[in-house]
Amino acid sequence: MSTYRIAVMPGDGIGVDVTAEGVRVLRAIEEKSEHSFELTEFTVGGALIDQKDVPIDDETVEALKGFDALLYGAVGGPKWDSRPLGQTPLAAILRMRKELDSYINLRPVKLFPALNAASPLKDSIIEKGIDLLIIRELTGGLYYGQPRFRNSERAVDTMEYSRHEIERILRFGFKAAKARSGKLLSVDKENVLETSKLWREVALEMAGDFPEVELSHLLVDAAAMRLITDPDKFDVIVTENTFGDILSDEAAVLAGSLGMLPSASLGDSGPGLFEPIHGSAPDIAGQGIANPIAAILTVAMLLRHSFEMEAEARSIEMAVEAALDEGWRTRDIASGQSGERVATTIEMGHAVLGCLV
Ligand code: IPM
Ligand code: MG
Repeated sequence: MSTYRIAVMPGDGIGVDVTAEGVRVLRAIEEKSEHSFELTEFTVGGALIDQKDVPIDDETVEALKGFDALLYGAVGGPKWDSRPLGQTPLAAILRMRKELDSYINLRPVKLFPALNAASPLKDSIIEKGIDLLIIRELTGGLYYGQPRFRNSERAVDTMEYSRHEIERILRFGFKAAKARSGKLLSVDKENVLETSKLWREVALEMAGDFPEVELSHLLVDAAAMRLITDPDKFDVIVTENTFGDILSDEAAVLAGSLGMLPSASLGDSGPGLFEPIHGSAPDIAGQGIANPIAAILTVAMLLRHSFEMEAEARSIEMAVEAALDEGWRTRDIASGQSGERVATTIEMGHAVLGCLV
């Protein structure tokens, strides 16, 4: 029997509600398995600003590095929006990603068949099924480039990528493509940006090392369009930080809601950081109506990628599918069809637990 140490950071807003459901599922898995999960909760984001005037502190960052995996909810809210650069709640997640060197962000996008009606897309577009993987570079590009500043007349952000940063995320992309359909789509803005020109050059060079993978390229604007018109043509997409952020919210529409998508942020060593792709949703925070499925599927990714518990991860994904098949819907995925059972966050969590075998 092994003991796994997991740091839990619910954060702010709906991060708190959905992480609680993720933790419930984790506990249910623990009961069924011979492993034990030791959970330690950390306060980050706006909640920590209220206590200590910082979004994350040095002790927390150092402590996190000693865990086996990190489960994160979401941070932020209007209360802290006007704080200076680097001191908003978002600095917590941005700093964690950087300090843990979690450069690989895996964002699988699947449409559960029960949610076909929740998608605003025509049946003819989604009926072939939606199952793709966005691999987003997470520790470079505009989010971290220097210089970066703003005054009332001028603001600067810097998009910077080194060959090393590009190579390592592309290498992961090639391997992931090899394990799936053998097709890798690299998304860039090569007609305009220097970083993208280097990105494409490196991708073409590396293609020789992966003869079994068919590499193709698409400009990000065209990719954004094709993702909606021909989602079934996509399998593994690899792209830089900002493009990946935007395309994954767009892809969430394919899955029915932003509340459906989990993610794993991984580095070459150290604990994985597991985060739903959605934010803290201040508009619905505290109402108990947020969709906990992204957080629950995030727990499945944690078990799969950090603990090699594939069977347990699958059992969670199947439980989510079964709960949706039973008609359970939080408001974001309800489409008003007969047979739907509109659920609160907690009810949805219970529905998934009830389907867990
Ligand atoms: C995401 C989020 C974050 C990002 C925000 C909250 C900083 O949108 O994980 O996609 O932009 O990376
Ligand atoms: Mg985002």
